[in-house]
Amino acid sequence: MEFYDVLKKRRSIRLYKDTPVPEKSLENILEAIRNAPTACNRQPFKFFIVKDPAKREKLASVYKEDWLKTAPVIVAAASNESMAWRRREGNSIADVDAAIAMEHFVLAAAEEGLGTCWICAFERARANAALDLTESNWNIFALSPLGYAAAEPIPFVRKKMEEIAEIL
Ligand SMILES: Cc1cc2nc3c(=O)[nH]c(=O)nc-3n(C[C@H](O)[C@H](O)[C@H](O)COP(=O)(O)O)c2cc1C
Repeated sequence: MEFYDVLKKRRSIRLYKDTPVPEKSLENILEAIRNAPTACNRQPFKFFIVKDPAKREKLASVYKEDWLKTAPVIVAAASNESMAWRRREGNSIADVDAAIAMEHFVLAAAEEGLGTCWICAFERARANAALDLTESNWNIFALSPLGYAAAEPIPFVRKKMEEIAEIL
């Protein structure tokens, strides 16, 4: 697909078919994640690709909406503050780096004809526990289903151009 078409095609999908995700598509998506830029190239992120039904069920239970359980794959993006570059003021950039990698993931999935949906409305501690990360420095930042859409996205609504950009 042409790049700008991918940007338009990517929408949040909130219901999935049980069709498996092709291995080649997953490979391409993981490579796109690996390409993501990070501050000082520290790459303080790790993506957990959860296919195992029991693990998926456990992870999906941290999110209040049941549609997440319909996806054949759930992706959990984790960040690691101890690995990340910090501003002089002291705040870690780990979640920014993980967010950029996450956007590479959703755009690559769109290119592969697969649906995703950023999910941040969950307690990080519960998500970490679901993936046995509590004793590690990895902290789940975002979740997303990955699979073929079984529903249309909600209608497209965006602010006006002049509200989101200003040419000075
Ligand atoms: C950082 C972030 C967090 C989000 N968290 C959730 C979420 O917890 N649940 C959900 O259903 N959608 C979530 N979304 C999806 C947004 O609601 C969605 O991107 C927005 O409404 C625009 O729709 P579109 O993605 O279909 O273009 C999130 C999106 C972003 C970027």
